[in-house]
Amino acid sequence: MKILYLNPCSQMGGAETSLVELLASVRAAEPAWQLALLLNNEGPLAIKARALGVPVRVVPMPAALEKVGDSGWGGRQAILKALPAAANYLHRLRRAIHSEQPDLIHATGFKMHVLSTRARPRGVPVIWHIHDYVRTRPLMSRLLRWHAGRCADVIVNSRSVAADVRAALGRQPKIETIYNAIDLQRFSPAGPKLDLDALSGLAPAEPGTVRVGLAATFARWKGHHTFLKALSMLPSMPGIRGYVIGGPIYQTAGSQHTIEDLRQKAQRLGLEGRVGFTGFLDDTPSAMRALDVVVHASTQPEPFGMVIAEGMACGKAVIAANAGGAMEIFEDQIDALGHAPGDAAALANRIAQLAGDDNLRVLLGRAGRAKVEAEFNGARLAREMSRVYRLFGVDAPIARRPVLVPHA
Ligand code: GLC
Repeated sequence: MKILYLNPCSQMGGAETSLVELLASVRAAEPAWQLALLLNNEGPLAIKARALGVPVRVVPMPAALEKVGDSGWGGRQAILKALPAAANYLHRLRRAIHSEQPDLIHATGFKMHVLSTRARPRGVPVIWHIHDYVRTRPLMSRLLRWHAGRCADVIVNSRSVAADVRAALGRQPKIETIYNAIDLQRFSPAGPKLDLDALSGLAPAEPGTVRVGLAATFARWKGHHTFLKALSMLPSMPGIRGYVIGGPIYQTAGSQHTIEDLRQKAQRLGLEGRVGFTGFLDDTPSAMRALDVVVHASTQPEPFGMVIAEGMACGKAVIAANAGGAMEIFEDQIDALGHAPGDAAALANRIAQLAGDDNLRVLLGRAGRAKVEAEFNGARLAREMSRVYRLFGVDAPIARRPVLVPHA
């Protein structure tokens, strides 16, 4: 069986990290299957996939189409402007997919969901892997509803997203929840640690300082302001230093913070020298190991929340926003601590509680690691996903098998 994965972007967000784990897990469980990846640009995801032995093909997406999205300033106007570019891109995508001769297409990212159903060769099933809520994006919602009939199956990353997608798409197609996996070898308690102070251009912190970090993309809803506000509410923060780990990675206009915005915000809150900005770091596990507390602070419900499971896998005490799919990963007070999304005072309380209780940090870290080993491992992911691939690929009734006809 040959599976062709489509993803719009080569920068590493949560969906891309999840895709790398999926490729690695399926590769290990089903070595005879051929996997290939189609992307719109070269970048870290392409490098990671090739390192796994997965060939990558790049079909460049015109900038006008890349910028479209309803999370930023894009919207209707941008879509209309992007239509000619979309038609041209679709033509090239169709040719590229056809020459790959896949038995099955696995598409991630809203644009690829829509485009894949229009570009697939006749008879080749398309599976959508949806990682985000749909109904908060009116335009994408509508586009997905129009195209849902052409897709064989929908996989989502949490039951919370399943409910949202079901409400957006109606009865068909089938929607299944398959949780992401974490690379338990990389994200482990033992291993190298980065010097977060040096990376942030700060003087080394006093010995015994509790390091608290938010590792996230710069999407506006990831809660950077809540995190900074919470740090500013800690009573003179004795022995606590904050870190903002990450940078802007998306092309969609207006949907993310810049590092300058965040630095200014920190300055206005009087946090100068008490919070470091590391910029984007590829080695997240070594960054997390350098922390004592990993914070997730999304202000909107988080569809899944890779960073929560990654922090737990590193054996860290995690504080996470209590909403959406994130609540399916951890149990408040048992293997992480929860706080209400956007509630800086509650987050500050949790940080203070953990900073003052080494024992609690150790207990939560141990329980978190055990939870991720049991529930978010690659073998489970490969097993659940392969069942879906078999259903629509090798074990599909003959009538549903792909008919590869050359495109003009
Ligand atoms: C998207 C979601 C995030 C999730 C990731 C992997 O980035 O926004 O919540 O963790 O996909 O499924």
